[in-house]
Amino acid sequence: MTKKPSSKQRVLSGVQPSGDLHIGNYLGALKNWVDSQDEFENFFCIVDLHAITVPYEPSELREKTREVAAMYFACGIDPSRSVVFVQSHVSEHAELAWLLNCATPMGWLGRMHQYKEKSEQQKGQVFVGLFDYPVLMAADILLYDADRVPVGEDQKQHVELTRDIAQSLNSRLGQSVFTIPQPFIPGVAARVMGLDDPKKKMSKSTSTPHHAVGLLDEPKTILKKFKRAVTDSGRSIRFDEERHGLHNLLSIYQSMTGETAEAIEAHFEGKGYGDLKREVAEATISRIEPIQKRYREITDDPAALDRLLLEGAERARAVANVTLERAFDAMGFLRPRLKK
Ligand code: TYM
Repeated sequence: MTKKPSSKQRVLSGVQPSGDLHIGNYLGALKNWVDSQDEFENFFCIVDLHAITVPYEPSELREKTREVAAMYFACGIDPSRSVVFVQSHVSEHAELAWLLNCATPMGWLGRMHQYKEKSEQQKGQVFVGLFDYPVLMAADILLYDADRVPVGEDQKQHVELTRDIAQSLNSRLGQSVFTIPQPFIPGVAARVMGLDDPKKKMSKSTSTPHHAVGLLDEPKTILKKFKRAVTDSGRSIRFDEERHGLHNLLSIYQSMTGETAEAIEAHFEGKGYGDLKREVAEATISRIEPIQKRYREITDDPAALDRLLLEGAERARAVANVTLERAFDAMGFLRPRLKK
């Protein structure tokens, strides 16, 4: 069975339909997917199976899944250039995850930062799925023979684990069953920090009111949140990693505007934190207002959105199934060619 026929490198990435998407998700992931859409062959997934690894509301999952899908398209993912699908629509993800489970040492998973953080938050009610989360993520990536995985910095360790799992299985099976992926982390705003606590990553699951700027926040809310952002008592506006709050605001500004660090420092010369906060808010608003407009148009027609996701799942399955069968064959399973 062959691997990918296209000469373009493959990209796969995903977002969990949990909480409200924020500018960290946009700058760390979505914006980069859109920017490099023409260069690669792209698969973008809404990872609903991952969203149930912590307690969740079943009555909200469906809507959240549509929300994330609509946001992909609103941000500029084009279904004629990228395959967009829902993870649970392609059952190969769960099947490959099982095969990979049986080849992943527990010790590797116990070292994952995200597991340590999230299991502490769950206080005694930690599901097996949370521990196993990175193996399902490895299945997402390996099924598509992805060369590149564009993610924010918090997901780098998971992509490295995917490499380890793929390399160890390839060497055990004595053949190159899986393509070894590379994490692709943006140079700026790879880790957007919370506005209320710039030492903590901006997160969908933190519910304090001025922590995250949501992609669907109204302009006046965005302005208010940035005005309240925690900074320091300094004066000069410079990129200095030790001044966490200031550095976070400057990085957001840089990623939203695309200007260089030197140009930004020159622009803010002689200005104060109040000016910076207002201008970061304005740059954010002008970037996300058109996205919000498209988002409203897309969500006005949920049936059309569902049709796009169905088509995406069919295109994704055609690729995923080939890899899954390759893995079953290499791992010694008897595979009569059953029709699905
Ligand atoms: P998730 O849903 O937490 O986040 C989606 C994407 O947003 C990035 N991100 C950030 N980037 C910069 N600053 C932040 N504060 C910030 N917060 C989140 C994340 O790095 C991610 O790129 N495990 C993944 C979902 C996943 C996946 C995959 C990703 C499942 N399977 C396969 C890539 C490939 C996650 O929880 O992302």
